[in-house]
Amino acid sequence: MKIGILNGGGDCAGLNAVTRAVVKRAESYGWEVIGIRYGWDGFLRNDTVKLSFPLVESLIGVGGTILKSSRTNPAKRPDGFQTILDNSKKLGLDAVVCVGGDDTLGVASQLYKKGLNAVGVPKTMDNDLSSTDYTFGFYSAVNEATHAIDNLRTTAESHDRVFVVEVMGREAGWVAAYAGIASGANLILVPEEPFDLNDVISFVRNRHERGEKATVIVISEGASLARKGSDLEGKVDEFGHVRLGGIGQLLGDEIEKATKFDTRISILGHMIRGGQPTAFDRVLSTQFGLAAVDLIKEGKFGMMTSLRGTKIVSVSLEESTSRQRLLDPEILETMRKLSY
Ligand code: F6P
Repeated sequence: MKIGILNGGGDCAGLNAVTRAVVKRAESYGWEVIGIRYGWDGFLRNDTVKLSFPLVESLIGVGGTILKSSRTNPAKRPDGFQTILDNSKKLGLDAVVCVGGDDTLGVASQLYKKGLNAVGVPKTMDNDLSSTDYTFGFYSAVNEATHAIDNLRTTAESHDRVFVVEVMGREAGWVAAYAGIASGANLILVPEEPFDLNDVISFVRNRHERGEKATVIVISEGASLARKGSDLEGKVDEFGHVRLGGIGQLLGDEIEKATKFDTRISILGHMIRGGQPTAFDRVLSTQFGLAAVDLIKEGKFGMMTSLRGTKIVSVSLEESTSRQRLLDPEILETMRKLSY
């Protein structure tokens, strides 16, 4: 048997640990593994590298991806799907492990229907994939963000400043919510609940009047003002996603203008996406990698590994990419209870 593995979409901590586990398990069956570089883009161009365990053994704690990644969408390329099917044959692949978020797994699902023996591994620091309790990369990003916000709080308190901290999170506010709660942020704004600018300004003023002159607000990049649909426009990628970033600046500017309180904005952006995976993410990535190879061994193509409680199970790729996972109502309620 010969299998391929590719990574698509934005990188996150734990990708190398998945590759390592896939190679380890595949070699235990006597299979060969090739890495397809740059995700679907590399598959379209047959850009591959032969993998073996000694090459990946020391990568369990290394951030990023040695396979490299791209946001290429084969559906947007002439004969994109057919080229990948042809290349899979040319490479002699019996199956492919596709590691990615909803875009990459959505393509894997379509290719599976066209005949590719694809299995999926869910990946995203945003934690917004349905059909799995957690994706790897999420807790690593939350830890990084928490540490950064802890640091920003000490400087906010030293200078009696308002700090607006923007973190990634396009449609779902998982990172903002968890990092905000973990760092004791005073207010957390997420895409799930559009906010009113006047409410935020009153919130900051009320704290100031109570003598709490330092305020830390954590905001997801995809959060928006209640009175508008989208506040910012930007470049669009091949999956139709607008490049976000800037709502934190907009909010900070408005707060300072209205209150005259000294306000600073910090955009954590890619800083929390890169870097080493936490122990939890290393374990989850390893379990997912091993399970993906076992899905292939059992001939369960069109399926994806998933975490349910403490169990690694499998769900269909189609089901897993059919909807996004927004913040649980319990988390929204926790945030509400903490914002006063
Ligand atoms: O991987 C998802 C994500 O982290 C989003 O939260 C963010 O909007 C996007 O990636 C940024 O991606 P890029 O690396 O293309 O700037």
